Amino acid sequence: MKVTISVIKADIGGYVGHSNMHPKLIEMAQESLDAARADGMIIDYYVAYCGDDLSLIMTHTRGEDNADIHKLAWDIFLRCTEVAKKLKLYGAGQDLLSDAFSGNVKGMGPGCAEMEIEERKSEPIIIFMADKTSPGAWNLPLYRMFADPFNTAGLVIDPSMHDGFKFEVLDVIENKVIVLSCPEEMYDLLVFVGASARYMIKSVYRKTDDEVAARASVQRLNLIAGRYVGKDDPVLIVRAQSGFPAVGEVLEPFAFPHLVEGWMRGSHHGPFMPVSFEQATPTRFDGPPRVIAAGFQLADGRLIGPVDMFKDVSFDYARQKALEVTEYIRRHGPFEPHRLSLEEMEYTTLPAVLEKLKDRFKVAE
Ligand code: F6R
Ligand code: MG
Ligand code: MG
Repeated sequence: MKVTISVIKADIGGYVGHSNMHPKLIEMAQESLDAARADGMIIDYYVAYCGDDLSLIMTHTRGEDNADIHKLAWDIFLRCTEVAKKLKLYGAGQDLLSDAFSGNVKGMGPGCAEMEIEERKSEPIIIFMADKTSPGAWNLPLYRMFADPFNTAGLVIDPSMHDGFKFEVLDVIENKVIVLSCPEEMYDLLVFVGASARYMIKSVYRKTDDEVAARASVQRLNLIAGRYVGKDDPVLIVRAQSGFPAVGEVLEPFAFPHLVEGWMRGSHHGPFMPVSFEQATPTRFDGPPRVIAAGFQLADGRLIGPVDMFKDVSFDYARQKALEVTEYIRRHGPFEPHRLSLEEMEYTTLPAVLEKLKDRFKVAE
């Protein structure tokens, strides 16, 4: 049976500030998706959130980029925005950049990751959701899951994975994609994906049969809008087991809280902290950036779950490490590399300050 998993997400109002989700927004989304499930439009759904970002996780048989599914999500975000406005939540409707829906949420503000798959005999999937960072945050963990034998033992010892995986990489500046095959093009891949502000892994495919293994949301709100409207706070869908990395290999990269862009005002580097659903409430300097992992088993498109995968005690050390790094890097205050470079910051006073002081710049001798 062919099933599509669609994860469509948006920040349509924060509670309090940009830190958390108001329960009324979740209720509104659940009611609407209940009705869509009763109508047969979708098979199943789950509403999740990470910080101030609401994720609609939906399964259906309409394929990727389906206008009805995208309209369903868009309309739900509009309804939630109405609730957010009544409660005067912060930044109500902030990710809805257009007034009129035109068939697909891409380019309109919400983030979106979708995959159509032939559901296997047993289909474990992990849906990652992040706040206070950008889709480049997935590059390092995806590389580790699907190309690094020090992370994924299956690449070495499981015959069904031994041939490796292909990575589809998006250049967000040129809006071009390239597919690179690992292990043989690993060093070429790293030239690009190590520069995660520009090159972002969009999809991963198994090399032997082109089966999709992972899909990320790669919209960049600041480029779409041409002005600051918040880091995109991405989502990622990963399939696990039997020819894909085991669940433990999919989660393992997050045991290292690597530095990502985002955090306060989308303008700082900070550690990517794996947390439980309840801990997905970034409040220290609006962070540090968070990631949650919702595990499901698919059963004829029904979402059996979620299991809160990072709740496990074995991620306590990563959290501890992330807090140490938080303490260390915060001491840099407004200095790089805590603060992002001038081109990557989402807020800047540079033009105004330059204008004010322009006559005071003298040619250096
Ligand atoms: C970062 C983020 C927050 C805000 C910050 C200032 O992605 O959402 O750190 O940038 O709270 O918000 P405004 O400009 O809305 O006052
Ligand atoms: Mg917000
Ligand atoms: Mg957010």
